[in-house]
Amino acid sequence: MKTIGVLTSGGDSPGMNAAIRAVVRTSIYNNVRIMGIKQGYNGLINGNIEEMNLSSVADIIHRGGTILRTARCDEFTTEKGLQKALNVIRIFNIDGIIVLGGDGSFKGARKLNEAGVPIIGVPCTIDNDMGYTDYTIGFFTAVETVVDAISKIRDTSSSHGRANIVEVMGRSCGDIALYAGLAGGAESIIVPEENMEVDEVCKRLIQSRNRGKLHSIIALAEGAGNAYEYAKEIEEKTGTETRVTILGHIQRGGTPTAFDRIIASKMGHKAVELLLKGDAGKALGIKENQVIDLDIDEALSSKGFFDKEMYDIAKILSI
Ligand code: F6P
Repeated sequence: MKTIGVLTSGGDSPGMNAAIRAVVRTSIYNNVRIMGIKQGYNGLINGNIEEMNLSSVADIIHRGGTILRTARCDEFTTEKGLQKALNVIRIFNIDGIIVLGGDGSFKGARKLNEAGVPIIGVPCTIDNDMGYTDYTIGFFTAVETVVDAISKIRDTSSSHGRANIVEVMGRSCGDIALYAGLAGGAESIIVPEENMEVDEVCKRLIQSRNRGKLHSIIALAEGAGNAYEYAKEIEEKTGTETRVTILGHIQRGGTPTAFDRIIASKMGHKAVELLLKGDAGKALGIKENQVIDLDIDEALSSKGFFDKEMYDIAKILSI
């Protein structure tokens, strides 16, 4: 393998830059040419590709976002788009591609692999919704951001004696709400994976209010319902003023945590090693602190994992 391409695709996640750095530096260490493909699969279709060197990735390990930029590319899902990309891959003499992204990006990578282009997928998404891996790159940074926000909202929640719903991202996965809810001491955590009736949220709120608690934080995963409807119902049923904060894209930015930088560095390095060994069509992940690899098909068909035990602990501790 003489030339490797690297791209970031889908929603960005903190730690993507650390992964790009690892891919670029491991490639150069092995005397392999490394090409940066810009704006995800768009760059493959349009030939927006540049050779990278050691300094292209200097001073980025601590930066959020992605220096390669990213996009969700509808054209690539069409046969015409795929053919254009294959043509560009031939023109640039790219022998293998490392795709950094979530499951949508992995589906694109699988298409390339089926068309004969060796690929490796590195899981990057704040959602942590890829069931085959314990953690995805960017997840813990997003959790830190949410915990920081919860701590700030808790101050004003106490001052006013209000309930505050904090809506977090995650699509249909409740992990950001669960982890940040536990770490932030939220009184209730509402996630798509578990049924939590509004009455139970109200009961918890009233019980804690009766004990003299001044604040009440409700961590709500975006996939579990509408924050404003919850707020209206909670306010009506408890008489406690209820405010909504939708954290939104703030969760996608910021300097990556040390953990995200470390797993990004390890997986970026491993991705190049696998391609050089001729081992393609793989997805990387983290299990019990070790980097694992498995067929991308298997990764894409793995069922989501929700930590019910952690959810139950959070419920007990937040009483
Ligand atoms: O997949 C990452 C994510 O941030 C989700 O949590 C969220 O639902 C979605 O992307 C938002 O997408 P966009 O940035 O395209 O609005």
